[in-house]
Amino acid sequence: MSEKREEWGSRFGFIMAAAGSAVGLGNIWRFPYITGKYGGAAFVLVYLAVVIILGMSLMLAEFAIGRSAKSDAVGSFKKLGGGLWPIVGWMGFFVAFVVLSYYAVIAGWTFAYIFKSFGSLMVDAGAGKATDVFVSFISNPVQAITYHLIVMGIIIGIVYKGISGGIERSCKILMPALFVIMLVLIARSVTLPGAAAGLEFYLKPDFSKLTGEAILAAVGQSFFSLSLGMGIMITYGSYINKEEYLPSAVQKIVFLDTLVAILAGFIIFPAAFAFGIAPDGGTGLTFMTLPVVFSKMPLGSAFSSGFFLLLFIAALTSAISLFEVVVAYGIDQLKWSRAKSVIVMGIAIAAFGIPSALGEGGHIAKIAGKTFLDSADYITNNVVMPLGGIFICLFVGWFWVKGAKDEITENGRISFPTYTVWLWICRIVAPLTVAVIFYNGLKW
Ligand code: PHE
Repeated sequence: MSEKREEWGSRFGFIMAAAGSAVGLGNIWRFPYITGKYGGAAFVLVYLAVVIILGMSLMLAEFAIGRSAKSDAVGSFKKLGGGLWPIVGWMGFFVAFVVLSYYAVIAGWTFAYIFKSFGSLMVDAGAGKATDVFVSFISNPVQAITYHLIVMGIIIGIVYKGISGGIERSCKILMPALFVIMLVLIARSVTLPGAAAGLEFYLKPDFSKLTGEAILAAVGQSFFSLSLGMGIMITYGSYINKEEYLPSAVQKIVFLDTLVAILAGFIIFPAAFAFGIAPDGGTGLTFMTLPVVFSKMPLGSAFSSGFFLLLFIAALTSAISLFEVVVAYGIDQLKWSRAKSVIVMGIAIAAFGIPSALGEGGHIAKIAGKTFLDSADYITNNVVMPLGGIFICLFVGWFWVKGAKDEITENGRISFPTYTVWLWICRIVAPLTVAVIFYNGLKW
């Protein structure tokens, strides 16, 4: 056990890696859509409050657990909690494994579209065939599996190289690149004739749409967007050195994640409205609607390709963090080398993703009406992730109270002015709110 644990090489690199995990498909294809649906700027205000109160608190809790235990999610709960607590770590392992298996499938689609944008996609989309193109693409079993495996291969290659040499190094390049691509796309979108109507739809505050449902949507989105409740930030936290002041790292990561989410709406809505296309959410918008929008723009192929590159980078850096949760388990619990863990776990996840890749094209039977991918998504996002979030809060709020305080304040050396507020959020506010989300989400 004398071997030194890997650490992040620099504060900037660690922030980029954690922000890379947080910034994902959820920021780009989901946040703008729910904002438009639930009252624009009014919803953004609620979302900000939720992110600051709940999101930051839980991220801080996860970092404290990981850095104190210096272990993977399962090992952290073994070390700090004992008893049944490691089950919470197991839930994280399960979620990371399953989510990555289908996240890599979707990332594979975005990867393919980077290149398809320069092929016949623009012409077909212009002729009203974007949906056919997408459906026939995902229905082709060889293509669906090939792109999934390419993405898994890239992730395996990066995580194989370790924390600072692989994950951190790639995120230090990819995240600034993501930002630059976003700015170019925003500049294009907001200068289209007719863009203003989109901005108005996106941001005009409408407090009448701020229903209870909107607030639940804000909570759910904030957890998913910040990659909380599944051991990612525990795992990433275990590589943070003791000099880092955790609350300020949390602030930076949450700020970046929220900024990217809000900015994504400045790409999607002005462009959609400029061409009179209804902005929807999810895969439909991304693969079937936006190509139509791009096909109507000068230099559409380039903007389309840039957009899918943006999505691909966002998905890739999130996928890496999911993979590290699983790989760290192999290293810390099974005592495998990083190389062995990356290869064994990588093959297992790639194999588990195949039914998701095939199911979208109808090659695999549905499970009670849902495709394999949607079933995996439902079980992880609606069931296990919220439960994980609740137990992580309860753990730091009631069980490991002194340990958490010592970890955050570095044994009292640094002050943490909002400690009491944070503690009660973890004790009561967060578990209760997430329990409501959990209850409401239990509809197959
Ligand atoms: N945070 C990512 C997003 O916004 C999603 C994600 C969830 C990534 C869980 C990793 C783990 O899309």
